[in-house]
Amino acid sequence: MSPSPAFQLTRTLAEDVTGAALRSDVLRGLTGTPKSLPPKWFYDARGSELFDEITTLPEYYPTRAEREILVARAAEIAAATGARTLVELGSGSSDKTRHLLDAFPRLMAYVPVDVSESALRGAATSLLAERPSLGIHALIADFTRPLALPATPGPRLVAFLGGTIGNLLPAERAEFLAAVRGMLSPGDFFLLGTDLVKDEATLVAAYDDAAGVTAAFDKNVLAVVNRELGADFDLGAFDHVALWDAEREWIEMRLRAASAQTVKIRALDLAVDFAAGEELRTEVSAKFRKEGVRDELGSAGLELTGWWTDQAGRFALSLSTAAQRPART
Ligand code: AVJ
Repeated sequence: MSPSPAFQLTRTLAEDVTGAALRSDVLRGLTGTPKSLPPKWFYDARGSELFDEITTLPEYYPTRAEREILVARAAEIAAATGARTLVELGSGSSDKTRHLLDAFPRLMAYVPVDVSESALRGAATSLLAERPSLGIHALIADFTRPLALPATPGPRLVAFLGGTIGNLLPAERAEFLAAVRGMLSPGDFFLLGTDLVKDEATLVAAYDDAAGVTAAFDKNVLAVVNRELGADFDLGAFDHVALWDAEREWIEMRLRAASAQTVKIRALDLAVDFAAGEELRTEVSAKFRKEGVRDELGSAGLELTGWWTDQAGRFALSLSTAAQRPART
């Protein structure tokens, strides 16, 4: 049952694509050199819970920094865009969205886009309780793919918050930004959250907290593969590692095999050998500078028109529009 008549849900993903995608990602990642797994598989119910806990840790500043900007600047962003539709890519629980919704007096429609139907239903139910006149058109979709948006009133503001763009590799980012550009009509805007380059100690601590929550989050991807693909990863046989790659300006999370071991993955009929000390990359979290954000947006045909950071300069929200000139190649 839909929460109310003002709620519509559209599925653009088959129910079984997730299983097929997990299989092919795990096969590719664990038979490649070096071994890796894509970060999107962290987020089952337990992983989402652990991530929520991470956002409350003293070391993990990005969520608080972004919230500070949203609270301070929502009215300014509303005035700059005049948005009547807010599209949120990877909306999850829509927690951050509330700061925006309250500041947009002309807003008529909210389009949350997420792979999780349960997250979309939960968020819509609580938002409608607060704003019963808001039209909610939820999309079950993979936001990294080109997306057809519902016909809601313009101008539209497409938001991608949380710094999640940093979890994409550079080529994936270019593809993602091109897809965003494709969603925008003249007069529409794109609001992007990016974590910024800062000193190494602060960055590493944010991804290797003293309480070990990030370590548990990192290992949770092994529990997902165990459950979904009948694998026998021993979570106790891997150590969490976070390191700063100063050249590429990204944090890498890895799981390091404490001893030589063989892991069986039943659904793939696969046995994977780990040498003692061998590392499996589980996440890249890129950190940005204003010039880099401007360049990457520009390459996708987007023009930077606004830039806001928190007081401490740790995190940025940028606003961009479809450029008049064609994308640079
Ligand atoms: C999903 C991008 C917000 O990269 O900071 C948190 C995920 N990984 N701790 C990030 C994450 C480890 C996170 N974002």
